[in-house]
Amino acid sequence: MTDMNMTNGDVDPVALAHPQPLFKMMRDVAPVIDLGPPSGMMLVGGDADVRHVLQHPEIFSSGVDAVHIGQVRPLIPLQIDPPNHKNFRKLLDPIFAPRQIALIEDGTRALVRGMVESVVHRGRCNFHDTVAEPLPSTVFLQLLGLPVERASEFVALKNGIIRPGVTTPDERTAAVNATGQQIYAVLQEVIDERVIAPKSDFISMFLEAEVDGQRLTPDDVLDIGYLFFLAGLDTVTASLDCMLAYLAQHPDQRQRLIDDPSLIPAAIEEMLRWESPVQGVVRITTQATELAGCPIPANTVVSVMIGSANTDERTWESPDSVDFDREINKHIAFGGGAHRCLGSHLARMELRVALEEWHRLVPSYSIVEGTELLYSQGLRAVENLELVW
Ligand code: HEM
Repeated sequence: MTDMNMTNGDVDPVALAHPQPLFKMMRDVAPVIDLGPPSGMMLVGGDADVRHVLQHPEIFSSGVDAVHIGQVRPLIPLQIDPPNHKNFRKLLDPIFAPRQIALIEDGTRALVRGMVESVVHRGRCNFHDTVAEPLPSTVFLQLLGLPVERASEFVALKNGIIRPGVTTPDERTAAVNATGQQIYAVLQEVIDERVIAPKSDFISMFLEAEVDGQRLTPDDVLDIGYLFFLAGLDTVTASLDCMLAYLAQHPDQRQRLIDDPSLIPAAIEEMLRWESPVQGVVRITTQATELAGCPIPANTVVSVMIGSANTDERTWESPDSVDFDREINKHIAFGGGAHRCLGSHLARMELRVALEEWHRLVPSYSIVEGTELLYSQGLRAVENLELVW
């Protein structure tokens, strides 16, 4: 194990854009890196170690102390450890199953087409603002039952949690708590309306659902809604940003998708592996333990670096080659173990439809000259993704 004094928030933009060499360097330093005070956090980056952590929730808990994002109770199902966790997934999995997601594919396609058609004649656009941010927000707000006309307000609230734009930890806590209260208020408003007059949306479904013969309480629905608000709004946005930025800079790879759109699903999996838009997730140890011979005390926050695991040369053949023909691609961009992403089918559908429609209308494009792409930390959105064609 190695001690490293690092502070968050001052990572070089080049490393944020191309994190893979930094991951390799960290893996070479030690299997577990102790960041020391003030965070006391430990980083784990080897593929086998990351998978071990994700598959042992009894030691590496994702309980409420692992991460604070403005919540006042555990987020459901992410901050509920097994075995209780299973009850919530039993309820939620069917709602997000592929056949349910297929029902909204046509509507999603029409939405993307409208977004791309609105800019195609201009010869340039900011992809983040035009597609990557509005698409998942609109799809998800419709599903959840939140008013789509208030999308920009919700996106600002989500950004207030994920990118609070403050520097010190105390400022961050205060900002995130205040935004969290606003998110609870918005969700509570809709829950109160649906208790009186249910509609055909997820919030109404949750209110009527039962887990082992027990109805979810309105607080349970609030705690599910709060997590969905963050998980559903930002992850697909970050993934679309990363993928279009990659394809804009690799015209040969892009041309393969134009020539044969049936390659898009495999390309999405490979770009999810390579870019790992969700770079890492956190756990907290329930007891003293060890990993790869490195001692980890109880109550330690452990950050598992998904992006590093997905490019670990000990697991992956030619990890640095972005190979759309990779035959076996068991990446963990959607996490692993009990908490593996609930929204993966929805995310994959949105990504596929967006890439198909965008490339049908805008097959050739590049990044506006002189733009240095700025990737955000943690969830890799690229807000200044200026494209020209
Ligand atoms: C490409 C887009 C997405 C990526 C890369 C992604 C990634 C992840 C990852 C890495 C986890 C594991 C978290 C952990 O173990 O701590 C996760 C969990 C989760 N994701 Fe996603 N996600 C995406 C899209 C979505 C969408 C659209 C939804 C909307 C419902 C969603 C809902 C969730 C939920 C509810 C969990 C927690 C599952 C549980 O605790 O059982 N995700 N996601």
